[in-house]
Amino acid sequence: MQRDAQGLELTTDSAPAAAAWDQTIAAYLGYRADTAQRLAATLAADPGFGLGQCLSGYVALLGFNAAMLPVAAAAADRARPLLAAATLRERAHLAALEAWLAGMADRAVRIWEQILADHPRDALAFRLAHFVNFWLGRPERMRASVLAVEPHWDRDAASFTALLACRCFAFEECGLYTEAEAAGREAIARDPTDVWAAHGVAHVLEMQGRRAEGVAWIEQLAPGWEAANNLRHHLYWHAALFHFERGAFDRVLALYDTGFRDLGAPLTVAQPDLYIDVQNAVSMLYRLARQGIDVGARWEELADKAEARIGDCLSAFTLPHWAMALAATHRWDAAERFLRAMRHCAAGSDTIAAQVRAAALPASEAVVAAARGMPAEAVALMRPALGAMRMLGGSHAQQDVLEQLFLDCAMAAGATEDAWMLLERAAGCHPVPPHRRRGYVAAARALGFD
Ligand SMILES: [Fe+2]
Repeated sequence: MQRDAQGLELTTDSAPAAAAWDQTIAAYLGYRADTAQRLAATLAADPGFGLGQCLSGYVALLGFNAAMLPVAAAAADRARPLLAAATLRERAHLAALEAWLAGMADRAVRIWEQILADHPRDALAFRLAHFVNFWLGRPERMRASVLAVEPHWDRDAASFTALLACRCFAFEECGLYTEAEAAGREAIARDPTDVWAAHGVAHVLEMQGRRAEGVAWIEQLAPGWEAANNLRHHLYWHAALFHFERGAFDRVLALYDTGFRDLGAPLTVAQPDLYIDVQNAVSMLYRLARQGIDVGARWEELADKAEARIGDCLSAFTLPHWAMALAATHRWDAAERFLRAMRHCAAGSDTIAAQVRAAALPASEAVVAAARGMPAEAVALMRPALGAMRMLGGSHAQQDVLEQLFLDCAMAAGATEDAWMLLERAAGCHPVPPHRRRGYVAAARALGFD
């Protein structure tokens, strides 16, 4: 028996495996690209370390890619006999992995939250719950989790920086910007390379319309992101959002090609269709197209990848983005196959089916209807689902693209009451009023909304 850096028991007799485990968790908490290599080192030190095998299953699921499900299942199969006599905490992790693997993300979160009730210093359970709660649209649960565990964490330990970063983002998504920014800046003061803290503060700056500060914040910290995973692309997307709002579309496109959709970048080559990268790319092209900016042939590679992922509904929030790529390239047959496959997913009984049924499917149907010149139909498809869009997860800044879709359709269809309702909704959840936001100003002016 060994103990991890947080003092929790690990069912392994290998001190090198326990040390490598701590490095793996530190890499995971820090969004570092070498997490998988550190995990491999852990398992090389002790292939019989069940929680390590379980983590390899978690890692396989983090990318929301159906092609990785067999990898995660094989990891669960390896972990199961190894954990038969392990601690209750470690066995609970296996139960969470099995639930997540079966599409029951909701059940997995409940297991991680139970682990945290018993072991509030379990950094892995905490970080996984933070991540999956985010993709289930539950910022309040993210915040509650931070508040529950932080009295038990050692403020002087390096891992506390990760907790501060999570505090920042959870509070930001709950609209508590002052507390969020303080936590994020404290994390960056402790570790300027922490990308999750950089990201949380970028969100505060985005929501408060502090665009010049946002650009400076990212440019100042970016040199420290060499070891980061694809989250660094998302941070360049945030930089592009600031430039977009300032009307600097040339900077947006430059960041698209060299910052967040550089097809030759090693991280992109390794995972060319990773959900977060696809969301970044599609949502920015969609925003640019609405402004009448020529984006050239950039949609094509995204549409190719959308076609290849038809039937994979694991990342519900990515689905309307895939639909946008198919619609932008007028691939109507593929779009129909895509929607049909989503309807099949929606008929299931797991967490993903609920997300698809309530929100992803109507949003994707609306995307296709709008692109085919049927805005009234798009409004009718999406209106009943607007209240459920949060179930798709994603941040307020990311969800914005779906709001703009509905607004465009309502304006094009002459559905003034729907457009007005959407503007009120946008004004209610974003501190910057619609007439000061590029994606909303035209409709706000046309309707006299101020
Ligand atoms: Fe973000």
